[in-house]
Amino acid sequence: MHPVEICKDVYWVGVVDWDCRDFHGYMTAPTGTTYNAFLIKDEKVALFDSVKAGHGGEMLCRLAHVVKPEEVDYLIVNHVEMDHSGELPALVARTKPEKIFTSPMGERALRAHFDCADWPIEVVKTGSTISLGKRTLQFLETRMLHWPDNMATYIPEDGVLISSDAFGQNWATSERFADEVNRSLLGKQLDRYFANIVLPFSPIAIKTIETIESMGLDIRCICPDHGLMFRTPDDVAWVIERYKELAAQKQKKKAVLVFDTMWHSTERMAQAIAGGLMEHGLSVKLMNLHMFDHSDVMEEVWDAAAVFVGSATHNNGMLPKVADMLTYMKGLKPKGKIGAAFGSYGWSGEAPKDIAAWLAEMGMDMPVDPIRLLFVPKHEQLAACTEMGRTIGKIVADKLG
Ligand code: FEO
Repeated sequence: MHPVEICKDVYWVGVVDWDCRDFHGYMTAPTGTTYNAFLIKDEKVALFDSVKAGHGGEMLCRLAHVVKPEEVDYLIVNHVEMDHSGELPALVARTKPEKIFTSPMGERALRAHFDCADWPIEVVKTGSTISLGKRTLQFLETRMLHWPDNMATYIPEDGVLISSDAFGQNWATSERFADEVNRSLLGKQLDRYFANIVLPFSPIAIKTIETIESMGLDIRCICPDHGLMFRTPDDVAWVIERYKELAAQKQKKKAVLVFDTMWHSTERMAQAIAGGLMEHGLSVKLMNLHMFDHSDVMEEVWDAAAVFVGSATHNNGMLPKVADMLTYMKGLKPKGKIGAAFGSYGWSGEAPKDIAAWLAEMGMDMPVDPIRLLFVPKHEQLAACTEMGRTIGKIVADKLG
């Protein structure tokens, strides 16, 4: 278990969690994740963040290649969420730090998580600096990216930005840097993380990037708390631009059709709607909730112009996977979408109307009434679904060209 040197005397001492599939209890992570922790060896030795409970031994093993644990002087808690603080009590007991630096909201969260009355906590705010000897740590609170306590730390002498959850991705790899992996695959992981974690805080992400740019920082390396790090000028510029697009929820000529189906009637409606959308040149993504989960759906929804949601009616309502997905989507607050609802039914048929109400409540523009049909679609009913696709496809094509 070796550390990875990022630049002279700055090390990654984190953990790769190849087995993680359930991230934070609500997001799926099909490619695992990493919990990144960073060590700086200067006149003072500083350790940034910790790792999820159960992974502390691996982190300490990497750290011990550079310093003895008891030589750590400062712990920097950039974020208190348990994937970065689970091992903190054990770490405090082992290292007996001189100081633990955290944001004002970080202090509040630490005291609510841990029995830490005797910890040497010192609060730092945006603009606070401390010296490690040759290096300076500059703190920048990044509230709601994605908890109130998050902060980033910039080290001007090395041009390193330890960015906490911002710029993170869930991807367990043996490589540690973006220039060592395929950029398209990395982009997908970045999108998935943003769409499932950061999306509701998009305006804050935009403001934070603007703040960082206005500070004129010479950022040569971005080190997030999950996934790959960005150390080339090209990769640093790329990830900042990509984050701007994500935060702006920049739309493509694309529609997502997400549905659950009992005997394939609702699925056939989705296929017919997709045909109408494609006539106007839209890229479509059909997502049967038996094959895709709510995190897969959000990875596609963030840059879609239109979202169609379908369900068969079951016991006077929508199918449970659809209710799960809508609850999740509503919390993530996707912006500026066109919405539409559809579904088959056997006797009562409430689902499409209920779905339409839910989409409208999310602020979606609903230009077409929901379509529902009895049991199995007939040719003319499928034609009506295709027409629904054409109508919304034209609106999107007119808007996005
Ligand atoms: Fe990686 Fe907000 O925790």
